[in-house]
Parts: sequence; C-alpha cells; structure tokens
Amino acid sequence: MSDLRVRIGNIELDRPGMVASGIMDETGDTMVRMLGCGAGAVVSKSVGTNPNPGHRNPNFTEVASGCINAMGLPNPGIEAFREEMEKAVKAGKIIGSVYGASPQEFASLAGRMEDYGACAVELNLSCPHAKGYGMEVGTDPVMVKSIVSAVKDAVKVPVWVKVTPNTHILADIGKAVEDAGGDAIVAINTLKAMVIVPEFGKPLMSNKVCGLSGKCIKPIGVRAVWDLHSAVSIPIVGVGGIYDHRDALEYIMAGACAFQLGSAVLDNGPGVFDSINRGLEAFMDEYGYSSIKDMEGIAHE
Ligand SMILES: Cc1cc2nc3c(=O)[nH]c(=O)nc-3n(C[C@H](O)[C@H](O)[C@H](O)COP(=O)(O)O)c2cc1C
Repeated sequence: MSDLRVRIGNIELDRPGMVASGIMDETGDTMVRMLGCGAGAVVSKSVGTNPNPGHRNPNFTEVASGCINAMGLPNPGIEAFREEMEKAVKAGKIIGSVYGASPQEFASLAGRMEDYGACAVELNLSCPHAKGYGMEVGTDPVMVKSIVSAVKDAVKVPVWVKVTPNTHILADIGKAVEDAGGDAIVAINTLKAMVIVPEFGKPLMSNKVCGLSGKCIKPIGVRAVWDLHSAVSIPIVGVGGIYDHRDALEYIMAGACAFQLGSAVLDNGPGVFDSINRGLEAFMDEYGYSSIKDMEGIAHE
C-alpha cells in the first residue's frame, strides 16, 4: 500500500500537498477549512510588521492558462495575525510566511510566528510586486545569506525560504540559503508579468507589473526545482502550476520532497487536494513505488 507521508527536514506531514502562501489562508477560519480538505499543512498569507492594504483594484485577472495578480501583500500586520494563527495551529500544521525589508525585520517577524505556534517559518524572498520587499531582497545572494542567518539565530523552528524564478542565478541563491543554515527551499513564487489593454492603451492592473501563476508556469517551476536539486542538499518544496497528481509527480521526480498548490485551489476548489492524493496513491500502486521519497529526484538518475 502506498504511503503519502513525507518529511521536509524534521517536519513530517501525513500528506505531501500544502496550501501555498496567499491562497485561502488569510484568516484562522480559512486555514482550518483548508486543513480539513486533504492538505498536509497550510502556509499562511505572508505577513509583515504593519497592516498593509495592498494594491488597489484591479489586482487580479485570468490570462491564457494562468492568472496574474498584484495583490501587494495585503495583510493585517503581525500583531493582529496572532489571533488567526492561534485559531489555525489548533487544527494542524501551519507554516508562518513573513516578509520584511531587512534581516532584523525578518528575524523579528519569524520570532513572532514561532511564538504563535507555527511549526516552521517561510521567508518570502520572492514576491515580484512589492517595492522594497520580496524578490528585491531575494535576488542578491549576500542579502539572502544575511536574512537567513539572522532568522536562524532568532528561531528554533525550521526556516524555509521561498525563492523567485525571476533571476538567472537561482543556483547561487539556493546555495546562499543552504550556507546560511536554511532548512528547506520553496520554489517557485510567481513570474514577473503584465497585461496591457489595447483599447485603453494602458496596463490593466493598478500596479502595472504583476506575478504570473497557474498551469502555464509549471515547466518553469519544474526546471527551477531540477536546477536546485543539482545545487543544494537541503529539501526542496515544489510549487507552481500543480493541478493534478501528474503535475505533482513532475516536481517530485525533479527533486521536490513535497509540494504546494495555489492557483488550482482558486480555480478548482479545495477538493483538488483529495483528488491529487487519490491520483498519487493509484499511480504509486500501479508503478510499484511505496513512498513519495522513492520517487524524489529520480528523473536525474
Ligand atoms: C492571489 C495570490 C496571492 C499570493 N500571495 C502570496 C503571498 O502572500 N506570499 C507568497 O509567498 N506567495 C504568494 N503567492 C504565490 C503563490 O504562493 C505561489 O507561489 C504561486 O502562485 C505559484 O503557484 P501556483 O501556480 O500553484 O499558483 C500568491 C499567489 C496568488 C495567485
């Protein structure tokens, strides 16, 4: 019988799929609901030091085989998020996602998430549409190293780092995470993108530049995991365009030990976790794999 349990460092999950940051995870109630839908864990919305209204509308639209968003990291701030986390952690494993502009800010936010009961923290070093944050601090290996080191000094829980595909030095970023003691890499966040409306002669979105997610980014995410698998030895979590068990298997065989779902939850609802879990079990039974670990990185062999 196939076993869907996975380990990401010292975090064990009963099921390999997690809810990606920013998707149905802004409140304690939505995180609890997602935990009941077959997800092994939920990554919280990325939270910063102060309340942030995000970018004004329009900030989300569908495009061919994907969607683009420039939400601008709306969140209530770390103090108000305490209540949401305390509700959610009673129901299962929550990874607390944070964003900041400096190593000190990341360290302080991560410490708060640890206090709130997060089983790990995920550092958002990859949002493509938040000035001064996200990929603006996550594409410089020196900065990445100092952020991860500062957070490692501040918390005992595992430190995961979510990286951007918007760089030609992804392997260097991955090595910087590993050298600084990071416990896992999450790849990928959205790709820098935009939409122009010909009739208006202007960009559609209020922030102009946005992040592309969904089915169309899967091959880029799989390649990113493939490259990271060759560059680092720490666990890799795959995310980007996973809609069914075959998509998840591509990430696993490229080198991911677990995966996250974002746009598929928005498009197809939370039932997508159960259907992926069933698909993985059927595949593993048919092809003779007893665990997810047995398939991790096998495309490199
Ligand atoms: C509406 C929306 C909001 C998002 N918010 C966050 C966020 O707060 N922090 C973060 O690290 N990633 C955020 N992301 C990126 C996703 O977590 C994920 O990395 C990306 O969408 C690729 O996965 P997908 O193709 O399965 O959606 C967001 C994505 C979307 C579509």
